[in-house]
Amino acid sequence: MAGFYVKKMADNPITLKRPAVRRYLAPINTASTQQLFTDCLIIGAGIAGLRAAIEAAAGGCEVIITCKKTLEDSNTWHAQGGIASVLAEEDSFESHIEDTLTTGCGINDIDVVNEVVKDGPELIKQLIDWGTEFDKVKGKIDITREGGHSHPRIAHAQGDCTGRAIAQTLIKKVQKKSNISIVQNFFAIDLITNDDNECVGVIGQAANSQKQIIWAKTTILATGGAGKLYRETTNPETATADGLAMAVRAGAILRDMEFMQFHPTTLYIAGASRALITETLRGEGAVMLDVNGDKFMSAYHPDAELAPRDIVSRAILQQMLKTNSTHVFLDIRHFDKAHFAKRFPFINEIVTSFDIDISKDLIPVRPSAHYMVGGVKTDALANTSIKNLYTCGEIASTGLHGANRLGSNSLLEGLVFGKIAGTQAAQRSKKPNGPVGLRKFRIDIPESDRSRLDTSDVLNSLRSLMWRNVGIIRFAKPLAEAQEIISFWDRYVLDKVFDSPQGWECQNILTTSLMIAKAAEARTESRGTHFRDDFPESDDEKFKTHIEFV
Ligand code: FUM
Repeated sequence: MAGFYVKKMADNPITLKRPAVRRYLAPINTASTQQLFTDCLIIGAGIAGLRAAIEAAAGGCEVIITCKKTLEDSNTWHAQGGIASVLAEEDSFESHIEDTLTTGCGINDIDVVNEVVKDGPELIKQLIDWGTEFDKVKGKIDITREGGHSHPRIAHAQGDCTGRAIAQTLIKKVQKKSNISIVQNFFAIDLITNDDNECVGVIGQAANSQKQIIWAKTTILATGGAGKLYRETTNPETATADGLAMAVRAGAILRDMEFMQFHPTTLYIAGASRALITETLRGEGAVMLDVNGDKFMSAYHPDAELAPRDIVSRAILQQMLKTNSTHVFLDIRHFDKAHFAKRFPFINEIVTSFDIDISKDLIPVRPSAHYMVGGVKTDALANTSIKNLYTCGEIASTGLHGANRLGSNSLLEGLVFGKIAGTQAAQRSKKPNGPVGLRKFRIDIPESDRSRLDTSDVLNSLRSLMWRNVGIIRFAKPLAEAQEIISFWDRYVLDKVFDSPQGWECQNILTTSLMIAKAAEARTESRGTHFRDDFPESDDEKFKTHIEFV
């Protein structure tokens, strides 16, 4: 398996030095710590983690699946638009593959794109067999369009609550399996590795605030994304890059960290929390207007409202600058109100709660951080550069998305790679020579004598800094300044020993933010979600490849 990894992934990347971070965040001693043992440990309970659990359990493994808060707190649970797949006769695999490659701007892994696209229809059928009721029209799945897709191919369920509908199906299935245990409110602090570069489990904090070690023959990281690195985000509170930071501390290779995808349309009402306003609204005819009431998208791209996300996000930002305003508007006044309430129940509830009457009022929106396209370098069999550690879902950089993700390809990827990771982990866990854990393990960390910064203040300032300096439109000087400021905070926060999630999250966010800023500085071109105003063109000769932290 490790041999496969090395062979498949030699792709001449540009390499950067990984951040110098302490190997473990928290002290631990097995002599005084509760320990659990399992064949397959899955950290994260979104679509990818849940799907992996089902497969690993089917392969005969004892499985423990942990999640940071509850099963309802994943990014999957909040996904609105849907899941992309070739479901109509007029559509084709070739077209979905081509759209994925075009959006990915030349650095997708073509084999992975082929596999994910081709596996899609069968895995969606399996979801239906397991109980997901996708919305239908005239007896067929009602498919819609999103930016960058040349055909309608987005399936949705419970209107704009697709992620929740799929998660509910998978959770029910997982709960019925006697060989899967679900551990909620478990904060995974660090992966444990041995001297042979094998992952053997995780250190975490359980719901009772006590540390716990889960020893595992195989571990699947499915912890999701990193939207909470930014002041403006569609992501839930849990998306604090914990898995990415844990992986880098354990020695895994991370790549493409500069590619943070910004979603064009997040509800913007000062003081209210940011809510995603699904792109499928534009797929179904919503129009963007600036604060003067003028349409503007066709001045930026021939596909106007249905251009790829990065283009729409930048266009909105530029229009906000031109009109000196904090937002633009989505206009759906021409939508049938009753149909809207049924088709988009989640958004209907939100806009209604702010007294927005969609038949008369415009919806104020602006872009925000949405999806980490990069992540832990992962091959076509979900292997990482650490033995017995697999990844799937948003944390994995599988090569599907390249430099930009096509809308609704992420639930699809979670489904396909969740299955792959679960299958591989089950096979590996059965091997008699698989690692069995260290049983005796002790980490001591001396207390730092530097004075402590206020972590909530650091977090607020960091999120604003990331938004301002490492956001949608980037330049060399602000990127360098961001690294300087983060490195200053690092000196006061990373050497501390915290005993609660807020401290560990702050450390994880700092570590991951620095990688994003570094990679964004190193990529002196524009490609996909990464736009450098000082280098607005793509430079294929130098940069048609990945940037990796090694
Ligand atoms: O707009 C949306 O519903 C988002 C979909 C996605 O990120 O895939």
